[in-house]
Amino acid sequence: MEDNFDLIIVGAGPGGYVCAIRAAQLGLKTACVEINKNLGGTCLNVGCIPSKSLLHSSEMYYKTKNEFSNLGIEINNVKLNLSKMMDKKNKSIQVLTQGVEYLFKKNKITFLKGKGHVLDQNTVSVESENKKNSYKTKNIVLATGSIPTTLPGVNIDENIIVSSTGALSFQEVPKELVVIGGGYIGLELASVWKRLGSNVTVIEFLDHIIPGMDKDISIEFLKILKKQKINFKLDTKVISANLIKNKAVVKFQNNKNENIEKIECDKVLVAVGRKANISEDLLKLKIKLNSKKKIEVNSNFETSIKNIYAIGDIIDKGPMLAHKAEDEGIAVAEIISDQAGHVNYNVIPAVIYTSPEVAMVGQTEEQLKKNNIKYKIGKFPFMANSRAKVNSDTEGFVKILADETTDKVLGVSIISSVAGTLIAELAVAMEFGASAEDLARTCHAHPTHSEAVKEAAMAVDKRPIHF
Ligand code: NAI
Repeated sequence: MEDNFDLIIVGAGPGGYVCAIRAAQLGLKTACVEINKNLGGTCLNVGCIPSKSLLHSSEMYYKTKNEFSNLGIEINNVKLNLSKMMDKKNKSIQVLTQGVEYLFKKNKITFLKGKGHVLDQNTVSVESENKKNSYKTKNIVLATGSIPTTLPGVNIDENIIVSSTGALSFQEVPKELVVIGGGYIGLELASVWKRLGSNVTVIEFLDHIIPGMDKDISIEFLKILKKQKINFKLDTKVISANLIKNKAVVKFQNNKNENIEKIECDKVLVAVGRKANISEDLLKLKIKLNSKKKIEVNSNFETSIKNIYAIGDIIDKGPMLAHKAEDEGIAVAEIISDQAGHVNYNVIPAVIYTSPEVAMVGQTEEQLKKNNIKYKIGKFPFMANSRAKVNSDTEGFVKILADETTDKVLGVSIISSVAGTLIAELAVAMEFGASAEDLARTCHAHPTHSEAVKEAAMAVDKRPIHF
């Protein structure tokens, strides 16, 4: 069967499906190829959405058990029903992936189920259940995302030694869980299983957690997680993880004193990063990759092969985040339609959905120093914010970095129960080129956590009111 499209997108994750919808809105005859039976990619099926479901449910469980009595709410015999919690998570995935399918129908996007192969710059074949159909297209967008990486000596079996995919579906709470990697995935899932009852040890190669985030934030966040009784082995290299019956033994070495230790555990989560999911056909087509094996694209998201564009985790631009991929999906659809699509890589917020949450946008203090940019700092602790105080969630602070001369906001980092929500205000402010003074002079509702943003902005000029 042959069919002609304006655009075929390979991959229906947040980059691909959003690109398909925007392209269809712009009048392109659009198809999207997806190998999984569900649309939505890693984010909806085995990433952002299921992890947020478990983060929310486990936080509710933990609070009901340990914190509600402080509010005068006495609940006896709080019990965990893990299979129900997992059912709830699976239902959320189902509802949202079906939602994307509905949006495809609404926008008249052809959903090509199967494995997509890019044969040349105008041909994509789709392989499913012994059938192979090829389709002609004017443009192709690659949006095949990323896959977990592992370490030498550590083989993921998704049963005992798991990636995030396995750790989102444990059938019972592991007594002893070792997490390799103190980044986004490691710390979110360490939080989930700690709250549900595991003894959790995080092994991180560097001497600090969440590399890439502001150092102040990393130090404060580590203190908070240690208070939650998550164990940390920093500056430590994993040598091996071996299966022994239904358990694993993780052997690791301290980078400084070279002491070797081991932990016997029920599960090991490997969360040391992800790599671009590049198919064989693209290698055959000799598409240009960078040194990290990610696809090189120009400012129009076009690869080294004309008419073939790429977005999301597989390209050499920006962080591996769902919302970055979404924005690139919209931009590339607009560019293909001769409009001026654009992504501002200086203003991409990032959030870790632990309790409290951690969020940032723009540059960190370390980046500003490295780039020789002179800056002022305004910091405000939630301990001095009235809403946080009445809610008993006073952990964390807002840190605003503003240009020393122009006062323009260059970066913001936040630890707070609602950091992921607060960071949106700062992203908008930065997009509009706001100064710290602009934020300080914007009326913020009382009593809200957002007042801490205003106070931190006032602190840039050394005039916070409540601290
Ligand atoms: P990551 O890059 O956030 O963290 C990996 C961690 O592993 C780093 O701290 C790194 O220093 C450490 N590491 C590397 N090699 C190691 C070794 N040999 N031994 C011990 N530690 C080692 O990667 P992660 O957590 O796997 O997440 C993958 C991607 O998914 C990230 O790019 C992240 O942005 C994205 N993601 C985003 C989420 C969010 O937006 N909330 C949630 C989950 C994932």
